[in-house]
Amino acid sequence: MTPITRQAGAITARVPAKINLQLSVGPLRSDGYHDLVSVFHAVSLFDEVTVSPADRTSVVVSGEGKAEVPLGPSNLAVKAVGALAKAIGHRGRGTNAVRIQIRKRIPVAAGLAGGSADAAAALVACNELWGSRCGAAELAEIGAQLGSDVPFALLGGTAVGTGRGEQLTRALVSGSYNWVLAFGPSGLATGDVYAACDRLRAARAAGGSVPVSAPGRDAAWTSVGSPPRASLSTTPRINTSLMAALRSGDPAAVGPLLTNDLQPAALSLRPLLRRALAAGRENGALGAIVSGSGPTCAFLASDADAASDLAVAITGAGVCRAVVQVYGPVPGASLVDPVAAVT
Ligand code: C5P
Repeated sequence: MTPITRQAGAITARVPAKINLQLSVGPLRSDGYHDLVSVFHAVSLFDEVTVSPADRTSVVVSGEGKAEVPLGPSNLAVKAVGALAKAIGHRGRGTNAVRIQIRKRIPVAAGLAGGSADAAAALVACNELWGSRCGAAELAEIGAQLGSDVPFALLGGTAVGTGRGEQLTRALVSGSYNWVLAFGPSGLATGDVYAACDRLRAARAAGGSVPVSAPGRDAAWTSVGSPPRASLSTTPRINTSLMAALRSGDPAAVGPLLTNDLQPAALSLRPLLRRALAAGRENGALGAIVSGSGPTCAFLASDADAASDLAVAITGAGVCRAVVQVYGPVPGASLVDPVAAVT
């Protein structure tokens, strides 16, 4: 991976990926979003974003999936810089143009909120660079306009998200959880997975069978029978059993309670993910779930040693592109010590 260049006046922020321990999706809203109940959990897979003063704003990307990251105004970190500059008006010092360097470890379009993470890190880094002194609530408000997952990338830890995922309450969690993340060969666009979820639900309501893949994707005709209760499009509610299990700190209690309403949609678009989930379960995972909109699969292990064994077994099964071992919860976007940033 290309190291971040050290520059005078450069500020670096580090930001974690997220997985969802519960993702309950309500009906489609009139604004194109869905009301959610999401239990976000930040894990130890980090991107780093460095900002430094420049004549004009630009972005360079290194690391995981760099070719898929847009370098223009649609880049979420670029949008974040612009949104913060607009929000602070005259409060900042110096020019608001920055060179943005993104060092990626979080895969793109993977259900891990990597783009939102980079936006959150850019907000934290520019807030420091410009001396704009925005508080956590103000940054979260700016972040929510950029993407539903940005406020959680700022907060980190484990939190319950409602609304479209941007309204957060910290969750009480004991202990640390060991995970294996299995990356798919190619990404899934979040909007496509929500749309597939809506199509599956509409088909279930009609009692029929529909093509759930968008044109040009690996088409899979999915026959739809009686849905599991969790898949019905009702007002989403927090799973109190999951919250109690998280308070207990017992991964064996948490594992069977992991749920994701987007999983059937992700599986319909990427049928091979079934094999990855099965490989995890067969090799001792306490829980196996698609992360968010996918295609990353998250597997919960009883401890770090079990996670290592699981990572080896899933790699050996040949059902994914790459595997990483992580733990959570970890803090949200934070400034990196300038010396540590270049080691
Ligand atoms: O907020 P964000 O830009 O990350 O959302 C990407 C897409 O995911 C939205 O355009 C929408 O299609 C879908 N989405 C949704 N309901 C949510 C969050 C995202 O339908 N609560």
